[in-house]
Amino acid sequence: ISQSRLVVAIDGPSGSGKSSVAKEAARRLGAAYLDTGAMYRAVTWHCLDAGTDLTDAHAVAQAVKDAELEISTDPGIERVLIHGIDVTAAIREQYVSEAVSAVATNLEARAELVRRQRAVIGEHERVVAEGRDITTVVAPDAQTRILLTASEEARMRRRGLQLGKVEAAALRRQVVDRDAKDSTVSNFTTATDGVQTLDSSDLDFEQTVQAVLSLVEAGSSRL
Ligand code: DC
Repeated sequence: ISQSRLVVAIDGPSGSGKSSVAKEAARRLGAAYLDTGAMYRAVTWHCLDAGTDLTDAHAVAQAVKDAELEISTDPGIERVLIHGIDVTAAIREQYVSEAVSAVATNLEARAELVRRQRAVIGEHERVVAEGRDITTVVAPDAQTRILLTASEEARMRRRGLQLGKVEAAALRRQVVDRDAKDSTVSNFTTATDGVQTLDSSDLDFEQTVQAVLSLVEAGSSRL
């Protein structure tokens, strides 16, 4: 094993803060950053844009296989292109979040995205990848595997801050529904063997980043 090779896998539900934490950890580690959720979102955006029937599993899988997807792995540059179109902002829209399970629950589409994610990870000497199945499927051999959790209350609170003034009940439904849909495909709420759970409910952003970095340090000294 090369001394400097570093793969950090982080999974967690929405609102656990994993994207901003993983990105900041990557920055401090001088590593690349891969937001796999952005890939699911981008192909979903494309299906919606192209008028792909989201109930047609074969059509969705084909659209994913054909997708020309470019994603920035620089933690300082957020940029996602699909078929040359910059969808960086568009993929965060609510209508995309609501449709993404059509892609996330499609096993053929997942297999294709997992293949591409592994390729991206393989291209980098040091990389932090985050999503729902990174610790279990995409990079189960990563030195550091973390399940970043937060209580439902803490996650609602953070989502509220992220989205602005959204009615509490609607927000709760959104977060809980999406997790329920997501968990039909990959189990990201309980950690499997060798995956360390980091509960961020009572940690602020900086404390969470520090906790991740400590786990990375402990992980590399084990090698
Ligand atoms: O992390 P996020 O909210 O941007 O993820 C968007 C969607 O993609 C979410 O509904 C779960 C799904 N997803 C997935 O199934 N597997 C991944 N590795 C990453 C995201």
